[in-house]
Amino acid sequence: MCSVVGYVGAQKSRVAVLEGLRRLEYRGYDSSGYACLDAHNHRLMYVKAEGALKNLVRLFDKNPIDGRVGIGHTRWSTHGAANEQNAHPHFDCHKTISIVHNGIIENYSSIKKELIAQGHVFHSETDTEVIAHLIESEFQKNKTATLPQLMTSVVAQLVGAYAFMAVMQEFPDTIIAVRKGSPLCIGVGDGEMFVASDVLAFAGKIDRVIFMPEQTFAVVTKDDMQLYNFAAERQDFVIKQLDAQWIAVEKNGHEHYMLKEIYEQKSVIERSVRFFRTLQDNFWVSIGCTKEQILSLKKVVIVACGTSWHAGRIAEFYFEEIVGIPTTAVLASEFRYRRFFPQDDVLYIAVSQSGETADTLEAIRFLKEHNQHTLALTNVASSSLVRECDGFLLTQAGPEIAVASTKAFTAQLTALYWLANRVAFERKKITETAYLLAEEDLLLAGVLLENMIEQCKHEIIDELAPYYAQFDRSIFLGRHITYPLAMEAALKLKEIAYIFSQVYPAGELKHGPLALVDDKTPVFLFSHPDPVIYQKILSSAQEVKARKGKLLAIAFEGQKELIDLADNVFIFPMVSPHLSVIATIGVIQIFVYYIALSRGCNIDKPRNLAKSVTVL
Ligand code: F6R
Repeated sequence: MCSVVGYVGAQKSRVAVLEGLRRLEYRGYDSSGYACLDAHNHRLMYVKAEGALKNLVRLFDKNPIDGRVGIGHTRWSTHGAANEQNAHPHFDCHKTISIVHNGIIENYSSIKKELIAQGHVFHSETDTEVIAHLIESEFQKNKTATLPQLMTSVVAQLVGAYAFMAVMQEFPDTIIAVRKGSPLCIGVGDGEMFVASDVLAFAGKIDRVIFMPEQTFAVVTKDDMQLYNFAAERQDFVIKQLDAQWIAVEKNGHEHYMLKEIYEQKSVIERSVRFFRTLQDNFWVSIGCTKEQILSLKKVVIVACGTSWHAGRIAEFYFEEIVGIPTTAVLASEFRYRRFFPQDDVLYIAVSQSGETADTLEAIRFLKEHNQHTLALTNVASSSLVRECDGFLLTQAGPEIAVASTKAFTAQLTALYWLANRVAFERKKITETAYLLAEEDLLLAGVLLENMIEQCKHEIIDELAPYYAQFDRSIFLGRHITYPLAMEAALKLKEIAYIFSQVYPAGELKHGPLALVDDKTPVFLFSHPDPVIYQKILSSAQEVKARKGKLLAIAFEGQKELIDLADNVFIFPMVSPHLSVIATIGVIQIFVYYIALSRGCNIDKPRNLAKSVTVL
């Protein structure tokens, strides 16, 4: 989503703001902008540009504005086209108030109507611009209002989940930071302060941070910060030590971050297993449970979005088949709007790479209101999800830069498989030997993942990817644990290669989708190591071939009929179904990567998307 970064301090702000925006650009790349107050006359100056941050940087050659108070923004468009006009910062009528904003003002259109009726003139299609005009309007009504009084009257009128920053000529040397529903944190330095959507914007530069609590605003100057609730009452706050280090993530010779991240997966699994081995008996405390709670557990519910939800769907099979406990993975965005039946002895696991996905966070907040037990399974230790759940288990993917999740998905599967085994061992469903073997199996799956990429990549690069890149639509089929794997593969093809990909449980093919099969719609069929399920998959393959469909199969050694039937096939060694999904994912990701490359797509930053989805 959008990112906001602000700086107030002894230094000029531009370098700090641009560096922060560069680190957070994965959150949105439709446009960017920067505003600052001139150090001498306190006038607002700004620059904004359509497209990637580099377009903004170029503009500073001609217009090198800078100031000691500055705010910046990268945009993931929600309201209005991705153009310069809608790029942040946005302003009031007299350009004395400047706003950068992440989130959505849901009632912006009614506020806008009222403000237009009062004579305000708008210049963009965004919801954000109403904030600037609303501040202006409230300020005109009460010129003697203090900043907290002013902000209280503004936030009282805004509906939605948002985080925004304001810089105003009237209050120079000050950043006003407002948080409701979207993350915002303040980096505390000596004689300088940062405000940002994510600590990564300033990690490594200063080592203290304040995570702004829900429904608060802060008045930030270079040496001080005052926190208020939405009733303008002063609030205490906690300053935390910041341990997140900004690691300058390079591509290590790869053309794209996605490719580099695909190749890191074996080492991600190894690092995960090493990490799990350090977790001793106090592990239950860190995940916010007692052993007794684990013993009395009756159900697991996994809450997530997108790729993380696919990891959860696969983990349903881990928990049900290894622990013997009913497990469902629900989409966070749907879950919140369904009727809720509170139950005792349920563990809710929120799976999220970023730990900032708005739908997942809202689902967790809802569950907390109903006193349910929540566990964060996330890649980011400093995330809101870690702070808001009862406990957490960190995935060991390391920073993932490409928008399309690859190694984070594998790290999630690894952690969920390990957790299922750990819970099963605690509940005496498996022996200690089996539990220790599970860790070895994970390592083996990592080796297979990497070896299979090496084995298949030449055929993929030379023949298969260029061939399949010519189709504009496709069908994905899987069954049992390979159905959610097919869902993940189809999502990757959609998001990075822009190929319409419809996915079905293979058994559903004959109930309608078969009508779509023709020689222009390839079918990607995910087989299964289990001989009974394999036979069913084989029937689906025959149905496709009988209709002259083009069939690419992901098969296992010994599945001769399927191998002979398919037009193209990747053949994997026979492993347990639980681990087969990890062993096969690398080849699928590489295949999709090279299809996208053949189609000339912007692989690391696909159109219309952003890495961290912080709007509802
Ligand atoms: C797809 C992808 C997304 C995310 C989803 C949830 O490649 O990355 O579908 O999985 O937006 O994000 P997190 O895991 O950060 O909650």
